[in-house]
Amino acid sequence: MHARDGLLLEGVPLIAVAREVGTPCWVYSAGTIRARYRTFAAALAGAGLDAHIHYAVKANDQLAVLHVMRALGAGADVVSGGELLRARAAGIAAERIVFSGVGKTAQELRLALETEIAQINVESAEELAMLSAVAAGMGRTARVALRVNPDIDARTHAKITTGVAGNKFGIAHDDIVPLYGRAAALPGIAPVGLAVHIGSQVMGMAPYRAAYARIAALVRALRAERFCVSRVDCGGGLGIVYRNEPAALPEALAGAIATTLRGLDVALIVEPGRWLVGPAGLLLASVILVRQSEPRLVVLDAAMNDLIRPAMYDAWHGIVPVSPVDAAQPATPADIVGPVCETADTFARSRALPPLAADAVVAILDAGAYGAVMSSTYNARPLAAQALVDGERLAVIRARQPHTALWQAEQVPDFLAAP
Ligand code: LLP
Repeated sequence: MHARDGLLLEGVPLIAVAREVGTPCWVYSAGTIRARYRTFAAALAGAGLDAHIHYAVKANDQLAVLHVMRALGAGADVVSGGELLRARAAGIAAERIVFSGVGKTAQELRLALETEIAQINVESAEELAMLSAVAAGMGRTARVALRVNPDIDARTHAKITTGVAGNKFGIAHDDIVPLYGRAAALPGIAPVGLAVHIGSQVMGMAPYRAAYARIAALVRALRAERFCVSRVDCGGGLGIVYRNEPAALPEALAGAIATTLRGLDVALIVEPGRWLVGPAGLLLASVILVRQSEPRLVVLDAAMNDLIRPAMYDAWHGIVPVSPVDAAQPATPADIVGPVCETADTFARSRALPPLAADAVVAILDAGAYGAVMSSTYNARPLAAQALVDGERLAVIRARQPHTALWQAEQVPDFLAAP
């Protein structure tokens, strides 16, 4: 290793990753994931909480990432049959898996019951009836937490707020006690507790405190009616620093849980996704060309089909040159775009960057969560490669998709064949 190697992730020079794997390429740091997991777990323990971490698989569902999580002792929060199967494929024990989501199909519910996962978070009276029918038909009993919509504004981006009335998520606070009673009487259903998730990229603790206080009040109300409540799932959502916002700390979240829910004698679950993996990953891209306009336009080989967060949420991601020679040049404003035919395919506007020439490699930072998982193949762009570093080691964990894979499941019907 040498200073001229430029930017490193753990002990691996990113320029070498770009050379060996090509770009665009996602790169994750196993060591960073481990360090963040341990920080999160220590914060919970430090607040005197016996809480289990169920990693929100949706943030980054790569098998290698899930293996790192399993080795750390994490359970999983899944939102589809596919995520459930991925978590199992990575060896996460069924009794450490909870299943959330507003629209689980009968087939997915059957899979969850067959697999005997820990808990199904039910989001509506309609879903409860459906689950009861499926479970009773299989002669099984589903452990159910009712997901509460606490009507608390998480003060995050509107597209990732989930806990206010009018969102599609969860059961209205006022309906919880009667529905819990109905659930207890339904065949195939064992209500075990409550779940809540107010949104993602949440930076303030006040919404968490308010939501958890409502949950605590509901637990007491349910117990006053002599219902058994043994679990509370506190959801995920803790935000990360993308730019220069004041950090949201796991210690503060643990404190919010402790002041509201400790002492209720319930088993606690938390479902962080982004906080654990977001800062542990980046997207490497190469400059295709620089157009000398005002400001100059840097066109990358990565695009919105790879990382959609800037287009979808106006998200800000740090962009840094990988080469030390590039990094040492004076920075001037540039628009950073991808080659996709949409104006929204813009990673950054007026970003201060050195004069990058064609083939220069940049890293788009904090892309470990909701990055590759949200990719598409729009414009017939194959899914990018994914790599993982661990100390000095580098491994490709998902090969770049070949072009032929884009159409291999497609068929041209006979009646279109030319006469
Ligand atoms: N639990 C439930 C029920 C969830 O719906 C989510 C995220 C999580 C846990 C994990 O939240 P986290 O700790 O990662 O914030 N694509 C968006 C984020 C969508 C989050 C959806 N639900 C983005 O790129 O910002």
